[in-house]
Amino acid sequence: MSNTTNCRVCNGTVGEFFDFGRQPLSDAFVEPGADPAQEFFYRLAVGLCTGCAMVQLMEEVPRDRMFHEAYPYHSSGSAFMRTHFEELAKRLLDTELTGADPFIVELGCNDGVMLKALADAGVRHLGVEPSGGVADVAAAKGVRVRKSFFEEDTARQIRAGDGPADVIYAANTLCHIPYMGSILTGVTALLAPGGVFVFEDPYLGDIVERSSFDQIYDEHFFFFAAQSVQAMAARHGLELVDVERIPVHGGEVRYTLAHAGARTPAPAVAELIAQERANGIADPSTLQRFGANVLKIRTDLMALLSRLREEGKTVVGYGATAKSATVTNFCGIDADLVTFVSDSTPAKIGRLTPGAHIPVREPAAFSQPYPDYALLFAWNHAEEIMAKEQAFRDAGGRWILYVPDVRVV
Ligand code: SAH
Ligand code: TYD
Ligand code: ZN
Repeated sequence: MSNTTNCRVCNGTVGEFFDFGRQPLSDAFVEPGADPAQEFFYRLAVGLCTGCAMVQLMEEVPRDRMFHEAYPYHSSGSAFMRTHFEELAKRLLDTELTGADPFIVELGCNDGVMLKALADAGVRHLGVEPSGGVADVAAAKGVRVRKSFFEEDTARQIRAGDGPADVIYAANTLCHIPYMGSILTGVTALLAPGGVFVFEDPYLGDIVERSSFDQIYDEHFFFFAAQSVQAMAARHGLELVDVERIPVHGGEVRYTLAHAGARTPAPAVAELIAQERANGIADPSTLQRFGANVLKIRTDLMALLSRLREEGKTVVGYGATAKSATVTNFCGIDADLVTFVSDSTPAKIGRLTPGAHIPVREPAAFSQPYPDYALLFAWNHAEEIMAKEQAFRDAGGRWILYVPDVRVV
């Protein structure tokens, strides 16, 4: 019998379609010399809800294990993403935040990459961020932060203290939260009658189309699509009123929810849902095909890396992403195949990648000397990184990509 669990949105039956096996926490970088027995592993598998078509993880990792004082991911690490969030802040100022004394709440504000611009503009705001280290960085920039997990209680307390929110915003955060009922009850309680809940997350349509299986790891619990988000919103008296495909992190959708009946849905909503149905992005056959592609990528990538090692070529990783934990640990890539991973995040440098234990080194190590090949784990930032590292190409270096298929460029 195949594995099943209960849907965290509708309580229906979730049937497993792919099992990545035992995996470490994707952002738990290991101190060299640490006791290996202390490393935490869980079973990473994904399934599809037969009730509401939401794709989700089969097992939940306790949230305090992932999001804590030492959570290493800093959103400001990419110049492209800084611009992306500054542009959104400007757009919100011109559209949703034009009232007398507008108030915006951001879930998972991280280091303040988005709220900083609104704080500078004098907009009343609050970031809700449970990871203490990054919350401190946001606070140091002048962002008002509440160090806690957002959930129903938090939402009610914010409403009591600050009043209703005109905008509730979350980037790459809502998909991290399994306790969706509590979140959406909280959003409904906090949101002003005419307000909007805007969130952007990796899009299931892009993941299946590009076989970007490394979007699947402990922190990414849900894989949203317009059809599943529409159903989810309706369960909580909310309505999906707009969708926008955005070219960040390998393909995302920005969803806008409002109180049911408060706004007329944009045509884009019905259009994207029709396209999802036509492409069958959440059909069991599509997800089976996705699984077959993932197995082929593993085979091809390991064949390439083994051949390069036999030929005596040097290969290093670029970007110690959370995504790469799934790649290294599912494929079996270790420090014999990829000597080290170069990354700009201070909290990752000098540590070992989760599970695979590949050393993480500072960006300068990448050019001392340049390797023959660089495995681009941060492929979602390819344009920014390849432009920045043009000298690597000029020196004869080649990039290895593995989605949508394994290729050398
Ligand atoms: N918005 C940023 C950060 C994304 S990382 C960006 O797009 O780059 C996800 C963030 O969500 C982390 O900083 C994590 O600490 C935070 N988070 C996790 N659970 C949360 C919750 N229940 N409420 C608010 N933030 C949460
Ligand atoms: P990212 O792909 O944004 O997210 P995730 O960890 O959720 O998969 O992570 C990018 C990583 O790559 C981050 O650790 C910073 C690093 N990085 C560099 O080292 N150099 C760069 O130029 C960029 C853009 C990122
Ligand atoms: Zn469901």
